[in-house]
Amino acid sequence: MNNAPIRFDGQVAIVTGAGSGLGRSYALALASRGAAVVCNDIAASAAASTAHEITEQGGSAVAETSSVGTPAGGNAIVQTAIEEFGAVDILINNAGQLRNAAFEDMSVEDFDQVLQTHLAGAFYVTQPAYRHMKAAGYGRIVFTSSSAGVFGSPWQANYAAAKTGLIGLCNVVALEGAPHGINANVVLPMALNTGIAHDAPPPFSPEQFAETVRALKPLIPHMTVENVAPFVLYLVSKRCAETQRIFSVGSGHISRVFIGEGRGWYASDLALTSPEQAEANLVAACDLTDFGVPGSINDESRFIADHMP
Ligand SMILES: NC(=O)c1ccc[n+]([C@@H]2O[C@H](COP(=O)([O-])OP(=O)(O)OC[C@H]3O[C@@H](n4cnc5c(N)ncnc54)[C@H](O)[C@@H]3O)[C@@H](O)[C@H]2O)c1
Repeated sequence: MNNAPIRFDGQVAIVTGAGSGLGRSYALALASRGAAVVCNDIAASAAASTAHEITEQGGSAVAETSSVGTPAGGNAIVQTAIEEFGAVDILINNAGQLRNAAFEDMSVEDFDQVLQTHLAGAFYVTQPAYRHMKAAGYGRIVFTSSSAGVFGSPWQANYAAAKTGLIGLCNVVALEGAPHGINANVVLPMALNTGIAHDAPPPFSPEQFAETVRALKPLIPHMTVENVAPFVLYLVSKRCAETQRIFSVGSGHISRVFIGEGRGWYASDLALTSPEQAEANLVAACDLTDFGVPGSINDESRFIADHMP
């Protein structure tokens, strides 16, 4: 165990959506430990306020107001880090929005917009940042997913699809980045003192809202951004060797979340012959007593092959 404090002196961080909530908390915490921070937010005054608070306290920061949702915006955010501070060591993809609606009522525009911000937006910012990190041989990237996507949440088809897509994006960035010193991880944060948590437009159905409040009740007093940021700072530090992981973090709790695969059922002679045969063996196919957590598509193939009867 290393007892020295985790510091970011000489490092440059980009935090998207840094004007409020979680992003603001990450930006302030990174700067307080020595990082120069690009505080991106489409809300210009909010981005400026975070950057101002950092510089007032003697830190280094610059506000950046591009939308993450276009390739030009992504490039501009990364270019700001290079022009202002000469590098990009850390990227926290955090910007986000909600456009909740029952699935049958969700407009194409609301579906597209939410995917554009969360999923495409993370690609637009991460690709130019990754190129710099690869050239430098070092990088730490965090993608912000959500339990709404990984585990499901009614009225959030667009958000859930986008947030789960980020896990696929992170898997590939982590695999390709590994030989170049680039680590990439996913967080599923929980915090109530944020914009999204309060402004969700339009809100859940009343029944869904009541159910959500019931489920959250024991956690509510602990659901603060301050209870998330320390772990995200650890993830983007030099000390953290974790990569291609998914972590749930909030309410004073951290846990690894994984996509696993049961050992499953094998047809005799490895020949699946009919839907009825599949039906008859579904219980064995769904059994999770023994499972693996493949780290790539090839790992999954090896897992299936290794357990062949
Ligand atoms: N709060 C939670 O419990 C929770 C749970 C799971 C996931 N998340 C995710 O965490 C992230 C931060 O959310 P938050 O809860 O702090 O909400 P928030 O509303 O306080 O912060 C999101 C910020 O992103 C900015 N933003 C939105 N669209 C943008 C764009 N196109 N370009 C640049 N900035 C943009 C907003 O202006 C806002 O300041 C989001 O991705 C959210 O989906 C939050």
